[in-house]
Amino acid sequence: MDKAHFGLIGLGVMGENLVLNAERNGFSCVVYNRTTAKTEEFLAGRGAGKRIIGSTSLEDFIAKLERPRRILMMVKAGQPIDDLIASLSPLLEEGDLLIDGGNSLYTDTERRVAELESKSFGYIGMGVSGGAKGALEGPSMMPGGTRSAYEAIEPLVRKMAAQVDDGPCVTYIGPGGAGHFVKTVHNGIEYGIEQVLAEAYDLLKRSAGFDGDAIADVFGQWNATEELASFLVEITEVCLRTKDPEGGADLVELIVDAAGQKGTGLWTVVSALEMGVPVPTVYAALNARVLSSQRVERIAAAPVLPAPPAHPIELGSPADAMAPLQDAAVLAAIASYAQGMALLKEASVLHDYRLDLAAIGQIWKGGCIIRARLLQRIQNAYTTNPDLPNLLVDPWFAEQVNRRLPGLRQVVAGAALAGIPVPCLSSTLDYIDSYRSPRLPQNLVQAMRDCFGAHTYERVDRPGSFHTEWLD
Ligand code: 6PG
Repeated sequence: MDKAHFGLIGLGVMGENLVLNAERNGFSCVVYNRTTAKTEEFLAGRGAGKRIIGSTSLEDFIAKLERPRRILMMVKAGQPIDDLIASLSPLLEEGDLLIDGGNSLYTDTERRVAELESKSFGYIGMGVSGGAKGALEGPSMMPGGTRSAYEAIEPLVRKMAAQVDDGPCVTYIGPGGAGHFVKTVHNGIEYGIEQVLAEAYDLLKRSAGFDGDAIADVFGQWNATEELASFLVEITEVCLRTKDPEGGADLVELIVDAAGQKGTGLWTVVSALEMGVPVPTVYAALNARVLSSQRVERIAAAPVLPAPPAHPIELGSPADAMAPLQDAAVLAAIASYAQGMALLKEASVLHDYRLDLAAIGQIWKGGCIIRARLLQRIQNAYTTNPDLPNLLVDPWFAEQVNRRLPGLRQVVAGAALAGIPVPCLSSTLDYIDSYRSPRLPQNLVQAMRDCFGAHTYERVDRPGSFHTEWLD
């Protein structure tokens, strides 16, 4: 085989699947893994009979690649990426390019792009979504960084990505850490929607008394609607139907109720707070995971802080696909997207990413974890109005909010009376009620700040900055 078109470092599941995807799409590949045995095992197994060759050292790997070298790094985010870049840099030549396909912190990517570009290399921080199956069959890809480097990999990634009606699910996102920032926000939205679906399940179980199959039926109904049809609703139905092979109970009921996280949800919330963008639904989802992990404390607190007496919640019936609960789930899913898109809009200005929000809606329509039919509406909203301040005020979304808000209110109020926590649903209600309020009570907060700290305030009736001696 001539020199390979594309190189991959890191034969974990994602790395293996991405290289098999590239090869299937006509690109010859060379792979490297720190443990040579892993490379040999891959080439003798899943990589056998394909235009994929191995390498035994980074020098050997580099020598087997055509120029400019296109190298995808699929190693753990953080220090391992920096270590790998340090080992590779002396071997690279002008114009060669590195791609980090992991979930790196976008500020790390900003730094790496600047460093590598100063040495005349290209650097791309590329969010890849879709899990192991997506990596093999077609993920959604969010590459950002050196523009010319993107052009050198464009034919490759356009073929590797998931394909939807209007094209592949990949586009150049923007300079610096833009690709990894967009992937981080994708994951923040993912956290929001996962928690919304978990809250709906909990209400159906604890309030309506449905068993796993009955709850799965509801998710099945929802997955047939324009507003909720999505990968996450689809897999929720599957999870709820799955039985424990030993004993036949609903498997989800045997899973410990403590959710882990690897960092991207936290980074979304931290960036949002730093940038001054409210993302309460996503934040509630993150907090819910953290609180769920305090399992020992929760169990100890249960008898000390007893639940209120049982209270019925009007959730609807299977005949109307649990209409009020569906309204609540739709609005909380919409709020997750709305908050994520608002964060992208702000980051675009602050970091000069020049993000195309309609294009981001388009590349999320296939391959990724938050793929959903609703993304077509999101794409439409930003195509019609690229400066839309918030998805909630787009006419189609505003109609959804106005029509479904009574259902959300009813569910949140009922859950409050029944003592069932619904952090994402209730945060969504507060978010919408706050966002649509021309006047909020922060006039009083301003008064207090001025009272004790002379922080000054503005007046509604005349311009300027004012201070009052409140305590005289
Ligand atoms: C994807 C996923 C994936 C991500 C986890 C989030 O898009 O394929 O977002 O990249 O790492 O799903 O992980 P945690 O829930 O563990 O934080």
